[in-house]
Amino acid sequence: MGQTPSWSQACQCELRFTLITPFTDLLCPLDSQPLGVSDGSWRCPSGHSFDVSRRGYVNLLAVQNKRSRDPGDSREMVAARARFLKAGHYRPLAAAVARNVLGSTPLVDPLTCIDAGCGEGYYLRELATAAGASRPLTLGGVDISKWAVQEAARQDRRAAWMVASNARLPVAGKSVDRLLCLFGFPVFAEFARVLKPTGELLLAEAGPSHLQELREVIYPTLKQKSTAVHSTHAGFYLRAEETVRFQVLLQGNAVIADLLAMTPHMHRAPPEGRAAALALTELQVTVDVRLQQLVINSPR
Ligand SMILES: C[S@@+](CC[C@H](N)C(=O)[O-])C[C@H]1O[C@@H](n2cnc3c(N)ncnc32)[C@H](O)[C@@H]1O
Ligand SMILES: [Zn+2]
Repeated sequence: MGQTPSWSQACQCELRFTLITPFTDLLCPLDSQPLGVSDGSWRCPSGHSFDVSRRGYVNLLAVQNKRSRDPGDSREMVAARARFLKAGHYRPLAAAVARNVLGSTPLVDPLTCIDAGCGEGYYLRELATAAGASRPLTLGGVDISKWAVQEAARQDRRAAWMVASNARLPVAGKSVDRLLCLFGFPVFAEFARVLKPTGELLLAEAGPSHLQELREVIYPTLKQKSTAVHSTHAGFYLRAEETVRFQVLLQGNAVIADLLAMTPHMHRAPPEGRAAALALTELQVTVDVRLQQLVINSPR
């Protein structure tokens, strides 16, 4: 066990070259006591111990927060999303996320950012790139899917990657400057707990015309998506909002199949709609995303 590589060990070497450090302010998923790392394991004062796997992540998902044997996105969904994002189709969105995270902070301040429902880690990697060499960042990614976290750790060891649920983040209270929840499952009370009083939650949700052209192919009739802006979320108030909208030209069958596989439409679509989408060889789609910057409601 002493030989197990931990992300902290990996990062101590990388630290010399980058200013990205893994998030370490962790809590035991069983009793919420602080976790400390030694010999490749995280331990709480009561002796609960969690090994950092050889693949560079730690499983902090308590059984009571595990609703199925293999929760979250499947291996296939994760692989499809990884291929799609790697091809750069959502790069303008990643740039907008990074701009929102880094935007208002002075250059020298170290910034702690957790991605809650990080998937295969694309947005944290892009954030690290956008921050460049001069912006210190402390990064952590949480996802309930072990496949997603495994893939994130495979691609980048600079962040702390954890299998855990947004319902109970293994993260100390008031320890996070920026919390991301991108196309994810927000748990606002838990998000409010982990954010510093000055922290911000960045929420990304599909806008009304998101992937409309794909939806037109797979559903016989399209439900009019609500254009209502949800600007109230328990315990938070809206500080800023922007719409990120752009077109993507998808060429080839495989990339269209990947887009379908990474969305909930794969399971919701009627078989004939799915077949119609999978038969396409070219598709221009609209990406329409609402980004909301939310802050903790504090009485003033
Ligand atoms: C639509 S994907 C988005 C992934 C990533 N944010 C992105 O945009 O590429 C939703 C992610 O939330 C994860 N997820 C589902 N329920 C969760 C929960 N309760 N806590 C944390 N992650 C969860 C899934 O495994 C999946 O990776
Ligand atoms: Zn414990």
